[in-house]
Amino acid sequence: MSGLELKGLRKAFGLTEIISGVDLKIADGELVVFVGPSGCGKSTLLRLIAGLENVTAGQIVIGDHDVTKVDPAKRGVAMVFQSYALFPHMTVRQNIGFGMRVNRVPKPEAAARLEKAAALLQLTELLDRRPAQLSGGQRQRVAIGRAIVREPDVFLFDEPLSNLDAELRVQMRGELAALHARLGATMIYVTHDQVEAMTLADRIVVLRAGRVEQIGAPLDLYDDPDNLFVAGFLGSPRMNFLTAEVQPDGRLRPNGYAADLPSPVGGLTPGRRVVLGCRPENIEITDDGALTASVKTVEQLGASTFVHADCASSVVLAAELRQRWSLKNQTTLRFNLPTASTQLFDADTGLRIRQ
Ligand SMILES: Nc1ncnc2c1ncn2[C@@H]1O[C@H](COP(=O)(O)OP(=O)(O)O)[C@@H](O)[C@H]1O
Ligand SMILES: [Mg+2]
Repeated sequence: MSGLELKGLRKAFGLTEIISGVDLKIADGELVVFVGPSGCGKSTLLRLIAGLENVTAGQIVIGDHDVTKVDPAKRGVAMVFQSYALFPHMTVRQNIGFGMRVNRVPKPEAAARLEKAAALLQLTELLDRRPAQLSGGQRQRVAIGRAIVREPDVFLFDEPLSNLDAELRVQMRGELAALHARLGATMIYVTHDQVEAMTLADRIVVLRAGRVEQIGAPLDLYDDPDNLFVAGFLGSPRMNFLTAEVQPDGRLRPNGYAADLPSPVGGLTPGRRVVLGCRPENIEITDDGALTASVKTVEQLGASTFVHADCASSVVLAAELRQRWSLKNQTTLRFNLPTASTQLFDADTGLRIRQ
């Protein structure tokens, strides 16, 4: 097992830069999740680490070895793809053992590794089946088994659960977390799904357009985002954003409203345009609320209620309530943004304004 370091990593296809300078240190045994919207370069970054693409600039270090120019098979990494890429004519046993046969792992050693991986992944009873005779979740486990028997220093997972239905995804997520705990291996897991990132990661790396936006433990990113992108990406429904202007007395006037709110940050220049962020679970719907909005939809989920309402500036506000709530459409509600749970961002740069 070993850690991994990326130094100033860049990748261009032709003239288009896809990865624009990524620096990252991953500790031995850590599970790091790369998350970001489709097309932001997650797969490309993983393929660079695996050696399936050549870097344009920068360095990849695994353990103590600079592997930037090392052959993929000799990097000590194993990758699991979204499309399981199993051989249809081979049994589960042959699929899992294929890499070991190619690499001429001695037979007794290969058999022992295979048996251990199959037991770990609950595939022992299925070893003689072919992929067509397996469920989606079982196929994905075979693909993971193939990675495990290689005994890599670093596991790379590229959206491995995307092809599974919602229920199975949740189950496999739990299995992957348990697998990480048992193997204690260094893992990089790529997903566009922020819930997967929040639930699996030791640390999350949020990517946008080939750059790292923020790195941190899931709840640290959720509670303390550095910018509007990270604030909006983690959490569902996403954080509410109201654009506002700083008044001469330092209070904030949201666009379209005649009311001012206290600012979570002091010393702001009057006239500055800011964005006030508040998570749905922190919105207070109350008769003496300073702001109004007109209710669009109410989603009763039993344990919680989501209220979506149009604000004065035509922003749609999402509020999550723990109690049941049933106002009719078009009804006006009053709400407050509790100052202690709001966050402030610069409207032009999107960067967080901290006290
Ligand atoms: N071989 C390639 N040649 C040219 N462009 C590519 C190639 N591979 C990926 N890209 C582009 O790089 C960008 C990032 O792709 P990718 O890493 O697959 O994103 P993600 O996995 O985050 O969805 C996309 O715009 C994609 O079209
Ligand atoms: Mg991808």
